Amino acid sequence: MTIYDKWAATYNAEVGDEAQEYVAPILVAQYALKSCNNSTKGAVAILDAGCGTGLVGQALSLAGAKVIDGLDLSSPMLAVAKQTGVYRNLGQADLTRRIGKPDETYDIVTCVGTFTLGHVGPDPALREFVRVTRTNGIVAATILDEIWVSGGFKAEVERLRAESLVKVVAEELIDYVKGHGDKAVLVILEKIDGGSTPSSDGS
Ligand SMILES: C[S@@+](CC[C@H](N)C(=O)[O-])C[C@H]1O[C@@H](n2cnc3c(N)ncnc32)[C@H](O)[C@@H]1O
Repeated sequence: MTIYDKWAATYNAEVGDEAQEYVAPILVAQYALKSCNNSTKGAVAILDAGCGTGLVGQALSLAGAKVIDGLDLSSPMLAVAKQTGVYRNLGQADLTRRIGKPDETYDIVTCVGTFTLGHVGPDPALREFVRVTRTNGIVAATILDEIWVSGGFKAEVERLRAESLVKVVAEELIDYVKGHGDKAVLVILEKIDGGSTPSSDGS
């Protein structure tokens, strides 16, 4: 968090704007909206988990989304996200814990760049994303390729599928930072009808 707190002021210049190399936010925003069953883009309620400075929110907004909430652990990153003006609500939250939102709140949950080395693990985050997603809604997340298997993400997605909580719509290797050879697995999960998702604390 110390790194992100200090990085907030220059993050966009270094990561977002520089030659448009960090392509994951735009790719995920487009995939998520395309995969969503709610065809009225402006009415789709979206949670951007690990929103950082708001690059994903901006990409979603450009693509027509209007109801976007963001969560992140770093207050300075959230302060930059607020300046984008695209988020309805922003809040500080630790994604390694239960998310303080009711079940079935969002049509889409996005999580880009936050499932990476030393950040947030698969459990309980993925299950929590599914819990706060509406039935037939979409969870769209990137997971750095080098931790997809070793970090337990692939196994957790398989568990959610085996429990009939989600259908795996896509599991695709994408460019994360173009030209740097960095790859991420883009996972699109659709919450299945009737899949009530007990949170990690059993409630
Ligand atoms: C690489 S940035 C990605 C930000 C944004 N999604 C993007 O694509 O530009 C990772 C973000 O994860 C956040 N983060 C790291 N650990 C977290 C945690 N436990 N809970 C919530 N956010 C966390 C950081 O503060 C940072 O904003």
